[in-house]
Amino acid sequence: MADIMERFDRLREQAHMGGGIKRIEAQHKRGKLTARERLEVLLDQDSFEEMDTFVEHRCTDFGMQDQKHPGDGVVIGHGTIFGRPVMVYSQDFTVFGGSLSETHAQKICKIMDMGVKNGIPVIGINDSGGARIQEGVASLAGYTEVFQRNVLASGVVPQISAIMGPCAGGSVYSPALTDFIFMVQDNAFMFLTGPDVVRQVTHEEVTFEELGGASTHASRSGVTDFACDGDIELLTQLRRLYAFLPLNNRDPLPVYPTGDPVHRLEESLNHVVPDDPNKPYNMREIVEKVVDNGDFMEIQERFAKNILVGFARMEGSTIGVVANQPMVLAGCLDIDASIKAARFVRFCDCFSIPVVSFVDVPGFLPGSDQEHRGIIKHGAKLLFAYAEATVPKITIITRKAYGGAYCVMASKHLRGDLNYAWPNAEIAVMGSKGAAEIIFRKEIGRAEDRDAALQEKTDLYAETFANPFIAARRGYLDDVIRPFRTRIRIAQGLQLLKNKKLDNPWKKHANMPL
Ligand code: HXC
Repeated sequence: MADIMERFDRLREQAHMGGGIKRIEAQHKRGKLTARERLEVLLDQDSFEEMDTFVEHRCTDFGMQDQKHPGDGVVIGHGTIFGRPVMVYSQDFTVFGGSLSETHAQKICKIMDMGVKNGIPVIGINDSGGARIQEGVASLAGYTEVFQRNVLASGVVPQISAIMGPCAGGSVYSPALTDFIFMVQDNAFMFLTGPDVVRQVTHEEVTFEELGGASTHASRSGVTDFACDGDIELLTQLRRLYAFLPLNNRDPLPVYPTGDPVHRLEESLNHVVPDDPNKPYNMREIVEKVVDNGDFMEIQERFAKNILVGFARMEGSTIGVVANQPMVLAGCLDIDASIKAARFVRFCDCFSIPVVSFVDVPGFLPGSDQEHRGIIKHGAKLLFAYAEATVPKITIITRKAYGGAYCVMASKHLRGDLNYAWPNAEIAVMGSKGAAEIIFRKEIGRAEDRDAALQEKTDLYAETFANPFIAARRGYLDDVIRPFRTRIRIAQGLQLLKNKKLDNPWKKHANMPL
């Protein structure tokens, strides 16, 4: 027995040392934690239970039979975050650069299968050079098994990816199939092919950071949802996100005690929107003043800043917030904003998270750049997402809701459950000046003083349409509300809609405009 225990301890120690002390030191020197250290930060203290510690690869090519490390470059298991269960894997860069072998893939698949079977989310920490080159097609097969599971798990359990090192090839496709991606600033990269291959094929000189660093993916490509300063910050933010999410698509939303009274009236909301309709203001301020304790976790903060999306709580329960941001592009919807918000609305709908939309939108962004890049199809994604969503939908128009963007932003006609507007709201086909120029063109053209005539007709149009009461008279708005009562009205609405039941017609799946 003593012998067996000794062997067991030796193997365990070997597994814990990964690729050896030198490589661990190299990892630390780069400011990176090891795979196991990361799990310690991510999970509640002492909650981690490891699985498949002793799995080894089966490759015999290129002398691999003499290079075995128990665990084979990935640590898997389960633990808890704020007391709620989670399945995890964490790739170990010190073992063959965290590359994915056949057995490494089987380990990841094992915890994904357990996650789906038991309704437990899956978090993957990625730090991997991609397919294990020595294993050839066996490695490609392994990746594909992971991808298949990512797809089948989508909409069943939340899947979250942390990118915490150089991730190439296959190791970026699995994260791309998951719901949220976190990246470490300066120490993590995502690309299909690295700078060397890019140089060989296209003769383009590009650095790791420019090609696939966290800044690039957070602000230009929109591939990552979060860019964090260092491993600890990333794992702390990941815990924060996790606390907002249900465990699966049948699990009730987590509810946390909140010290923020639901009846809190926020007088300052009456003064956020400027009198001049062309002056910007910060929509984030409105969101923070309405939700519990001002706690709004924004997603894709640096991408398509003309729309805000993220999680918050009302009466301690999670809501998804979508809000036009008048400070950027006057809050217009463009291609990036439409895709960003559409994906978020669909996530909320998968997991029964009510969507609260704050609307101040002068329309879709005009111009040949947007048209040629397909704003028609991309804008339709957001329309599609709101229209198919069956979760509770509450909409507050804080100022403008013009044209197609009025229709799209969770309007009554897209099955908005409760649609409110502030008294200063303008709901119309377009801005008053543009409208006057079109419908009174001849009259203005004939006038002696064209500027005065345009102003007169603009005022007439504004008086007629630039208010919320025409929509309210038709029942397109359920009420015109005072800004300072927005919090209580939303909270009451969410209570009312708690047991909402709405099903779309049976279908295999819809065909959204991708
Ligand atoms: C086997 C690998 C490996 C890989 C790295 N290593 N990538 N071993 N397969 N894919 C090993 C190295 O040999 C080295 O071993 C150790 O990991 C650390 O690698 P370094 O190169 O020393 O580290 P660094 O300088 O930080 O560079 C990291 C890196 C680079 C950027 C990830 O290693 C790299 O470019 N690797 C190859 C990436 C790639 O092309 N992968 C295949 C993608 S194709 P030692 O023993 O020295 O410590 C793919 C297909 C799937 O994934 C597609 C599905 C759709």
